[in-house]
Amino acid sequence: MKVTVLGSGYVGLVASACFSEMGNYVICVDIDKEKILKLKEGVIPIYEPGLTDLIIDNQKKRTLNFTTNIKESLKNAEVVFIAVGTPMGEDGSADLKYVLQVAKSIGENMSHHLVIVDKSTVPIGTADKVREVIQNILDDRDSQLTFDVVSNPEFLKEGAAIKDFMHPDRIVVGANNDHSMTLMRNLYAPFTVSNDRFIGMDIRSAEMTKYAANAMLATKISFINEISNICEHVGADVNQVRRGIGSDQRIGYKFIYPGCGYGGSCFPKDVQALIKIANCYGYNPSLISSVEKVNQAQKEVLFSKLTNQLGNNLNGKKISIWGLSFKPETDDMREAPSINLIKSIINSGGTVNAYDPKAMNEAQFYLNNFDVLYSNDKYSALEGADALVLVTEWKEFRSPDFDLMKSKMKNHLFIDGRNQFKSEFVTSKGFKYIQIGVRS
Ligand SMILES: NC(=O)c1ccc[n+]([C@@H]2O[C@H](COP(=O)([O-])OP(=O)(O)OC[C@H]3O[C@@H](n4cnc5c(N)ncnc54)[C@H](O)[C@@H]3O)[C@@H](O)[C@H]2O)c1
Repeated sequence: MKVTVLGSGYVGLVASACFSEMGNYVICVDIDKEKILKLKEGVIPIYEPGLTDLIIDNQKKRTLNFTTNIKESLKNAEVVFIAVGTPMGEDGSADLKYVLQVAKSIGENMSHHLVIVDKSTVPIGTADKVREVIQNILDDRDSQLTFDVVSNPEFLKEGAAIKDFMHPDRIVVGANNDHSMTLMRNLYAPFTVSNDRFIGMDIRSAEMTKYAANAMLATKISFINEISNICEHVGADVNQVRRGIGSDQRIGYKFIYPGCGYGGSCFPKDVQALIKIANCYGYNPSLISSVEKVNQAQKEVLFSKLTNQLGNNLNGKKISIWGLSFKPETDDMREAPSINLIKSIINSGGTVNAYDPKAMNEAQFYLNNFDVLYSNDKYSALEGADALVLVTEWKEFRSPDFDLMKSKMKNHLFIDGRNQFKSEFVTSKGFKYIQIGVRS
């Protein structure tokens, strides 16, 4: 099939790479000229395991091309994906400006029937808005061209995006006619050969499914974080409690790890957007509003653990941070809890020496007004430190050389935002070990 993907961010690039890997002819479009120039040279702007090889292979096979020219990209397209950003607007709602701009460009440049697919996460009713924008432009052009708008939300996880796209748990498609539903079924058939995971539904339900999924996952995280805070008060250990509740199959072990709050480009903005969507229809989603509130508070937990140990005035204190990205296996810093922590440390007079395997360039952008020292390896970041805070659970932090750590640090205080270790083990190595969800 001939596929055009508009937007070359995390979703656009992964979708383009995976559709082309299945033999489709894919053109990926972005308005960012520099990004497209680099992609053409095989330089991939994001870190995502497996993505670089797929892109380079398919460029060589000529099944994948990059361009900034939307008109050219639509010439032979059968299906066009909208995969541009939907960032959080000032009031918390999803900002649709990029989606509607792209819809306008499609209307201006299309020359035959197209199936247009919203892959971006968009508020319920956006397909209708996209349809209206395109139809208005076609009317202005005096054109009789026809088109369909379909919703196909994306569920990939950064860090495992290729695997998720190639072996999806489900493919949700909302369409209002058989032609576009069949086209989407055919396009996705190679991804569901062993088990049909295609779930067709109406368009608004598909749009809502994405928000419901992210709200559910965010709820699990805020739930366990709340339980973890209660554990600290009552003297229970959240790690033991987690194992105790996860063994119930109705609850399960997944996504109930306590930590320093969720971040990233999806949960924070999608939870807030869902609250706004509900408010617009006159409904107050009190559970989901609390999920968001708990998360905001949880992002401050590591800083308060640090000041509980070192005092509120951090003047002259050197704090080492391990892990900056919002989760491991990505360089994405959007809404990362490390940002809150670092800003609070510096605002309280402390200095920060940070290390992350992949996200240090991105971090510099997000923390550009803050004087952070970045180290090339995890042990150099510990030189003379008064405390180490582990924020992101990259694999390389799982079994560190505690003797070397001790020799570098001035004060052997280890605050673990991800509960990576057995408490007795770390204390036996001579560290004061502070965990989330365990009274210290
Ligand atoms: N990142 C994720 O893990 C993830 C997962 C599922 C769904 N989503 C959703 O998918 C959408 C895209 O997310 P992302 O993380 O890939 O965004 P991103 O910000 O990484 O990338 C968006 C890209 O769109 C480009 N763009 C903007 N306007 C354009 C235009 N008019 N024409 C062509 N390109 C244009 C931008 O230059 C940018 O490269 C969002 O709605 C997001 O919520 C993201």
